[in-house]
Amino acid sequence: MKDTLVTIVRNDELHARWLNTLSYLENVGARKISTCENDTTTDLVQLKHAAEEHRHAYYLKKQISKLAPSAFTCYESKDLFAPVFTKQYLQRLDLACCRQLAKHYRISGQRLKYAAYLFVTYAIEVRADELYPIYQEVLSELQSRIMVKSIIMEEEGHLEEMNHMLTLFDPEWNKQADSILAIEKELFTNWITAINAEIFSYEGISTAMA
Ligand SMILES: [Fe+2]
Ligand SMILES: [Fe+2]
Repeated sequence: MKDTLVTIVRNDELHARWLNTLSYLENVGARKISTCENDTTTDLVQLKHAAEEHRHAYYLKKQISKLAPSAFTCYESKDLFAPVFTKQYLQRLDLACCRQLAKHYRISGQRLKYAAYLFVTYAIEVRADELYPIYQEVLSELQSRIMVKSIIMEEEGHLEEMNHMLTLFDPEWNKQADSILAIEKELFTNWITAINAEIFSYEGISTAMA
């Protein structure tokens, strides 16, 4: 993972594409949280979480101007790393999670939607708490103008909140979470593998042109 990020951060175009891809994922995550909000029971924690994920999407998108001022204005497939994997990551996780939770808890409708929100968000927060610190380490080592320290702080808070909310939902939530984390790990590995293949072909083209 760190090697991939070093290659990305060293090249402004790759780095801008990476920021756009992360921004896309943060935005999809934020929209999913908002979609799961209940008309009457949504509380401060959920509102804060949605607001912060939207801020992450905005912040990452804004950083692109430091590297490639006129590029990556939208989230078109051509402007994302591994667009198919990137777009499927959250959808597939959500689907697998719903399937598992419906079977285990025998729930459906609004209750299933809420349970999926808790477990999917938990898995994403675990990933964010691993990915962003490695990314920041690379940014610091390569003295990049980009920084993600404010995101790291907020993601740590989210993970604590999800732990708390999951305990209220089911004191035995850990058993379900473990298999959902395994599904997420597979999806993430596929995503990174696809990104590595793209970087390799990009580097190959650059070398051939040099
Ligand atoms: Fe985030
Ligand atoms: Fe988060």
